[in-house]
Amino acid sequence: MSDASTPQGAVAPSPAWRVRLAAPVDAQAVAGATCELLAELGGKPAEPSQLRAAALGILEDPDSGALLLAESQDGTVVGYLGASFSSAVRIPGRYGTIEELWVKRDWRGQAIGGRLLEALFELARARGISRIEVGLPGESFAGLKATSAFYAASGFTQVGMRMRRLLG
Ligand SMILES: CC(C)(COP(=O)(O)OP(=O)(O)OC[C@H]1O[C@@H](n2cnc3c(N)ncnc32)[C@H](O)[C@@H]1OP(=O)(O)O)[C@@H](O)C(=O)NCCC(=O)NCCS
Repeated sequence: MSDASTPQGAVAPSPAWRVRLAAPVDAQAVAGATCELLAELGGKPAEPSQLRAAALGILEDPDSGALLLAESQDGTVVGYLGASFSSAVRIPGRYGTIEELWVKRDWRGQAIGGRLLEALFELARARGISRIEVGLPGESFAGLKATSAFYAASGFTQVGMRMRRLLG
């Protein structure tokens, strides 16, 4: 998709990594990155085959969302962003939700997360989407403050708390 640049858009070419759209062949890598994210957040991932199938479902239906990967020069996945696109009566046009965002620990602080966000913004704008939302991890996540600061630095503002109910 593009070479590395800072979250603010100032060009900072980096031969070390790049951000690109995931392809069906990347479904396994997307599943792996999602497992690493959930392990860090204290969540329980679904079966790998279910994760792969979910990734493939989105990749085969680009209207439903977008999956972006950051990869190092040798092709190792070092970051991942998954987003879904939805509709709501209160929001004219469609809007996007960041479902997963993760950068490999040793690669953090190099603007990879910021570039993944920028890539999503570009892609969403091109599809007429003018709003992106994200649900933050729970209070028990030790990195919550840093993650909130990361999104705030990228222009996100607080809109409220999310709740959920699992249907058995
Ligand atoms: C949040 C996350 C995606 C940021 O990725 P990143 O590539 O380090 O982000 P960038 O380099 O573009 O931006 C760095 C900023 O992110 C924030 N940040 C959050 N966690 C960080 C970490 N462990 N290391 C470095 N920066 C971190 C800091 O505010 C930092 O700002 P600074 O450079 O002024 O200190 C990454 O830290 C991560 O995967 N965290 C764990 C999972 C998570 O919280 N995902 C979001 C779920 S909603």
